[in-house]
Amino acid sequence: MSATDVLRRVPLFNDLGDADLARFAEVAREREYPKNSVILFEDDPGDALYIVSSGQVKVVLIGEDGREVILSVLSDGDFFGEMALIDDEPRSAHVIAMKDSQLLVLRRDDFQAQIEAHPKIALKLLRVLVSRLRGADAKIGGLVLLDVNGRVAQLLLELANESGGPKITRRLTHHTIAQMIGSSRETVSRAMRELVDRGLIEVSRREITIRQREALESMAGSRA
Ligand code: CMP
Repeated sequence: MSATDVLRRVPLFNDLGDADLARFAEVAREREYPKNSVILFEDDPGDALYIVSSGQVKVVLIGEDGREVILSVLSDGDFFGEMALIDDEPRSAHVIAMKDSQLLVLRRDDFQAQIEAHPKIALKLLRVLVSRLRGADAKIGGLVLLDVNGRVAQLLLELANESGGPKITRRLTHHTIAQMIGSSRETVSRAMRELVDRGLIEVSRREITIRQREALESMAGSRA
């Protein structure tokens, strides 16, 4: 897929006309990152915005003891790296490839020039930032107010909403789920088994199916 086609699929840029998209694509660099490679390091200075053309990346904080908390998982059409561009502060988190990933990289000056020329991009950017803030609020609420079963229920509902139906097709290991909800793999495995035994979800090798949405919603309180 050409850089112009990638940019056209990014909600942030899809209002741009063909000529603007082509100009944008000209100044974007394509980069490939193999699975597990670090794309951005927390605390590094930042001067570029990244757009996921294909693959999957995680936004993570890593503690001194090596424990990871996953703040977000981003895939095709998502962008990251905007925070350091906006406030000139260092990168707020690590971003690591979860799969082999292809990215488009835009330099700060080119991104800022586009925002100045097309203020609608700034409004869309705000919308994405607000939605990420809502996600972060929900995560904080879950961590403080829910037990592990509730947090697993909250995450499963969120993933089902993302895929628009009762089936979760994004494949996540129990280890990854644990890192997304601040728990351990063993505890997550136990919680998942309990949800299956109670008939709330069904798990196969390829997908997880929500069977009793209301029961999961009540476990997640109002935080789903
Ligand atoms: P920046 O701080 O430049 O580098 C790390 C990037 O991770 C950051 O920009 C955002 O793009 C992204 N990021 C940080 N926190 C979150 C979050 N809570 N949800 C989604 N993305 C995030």
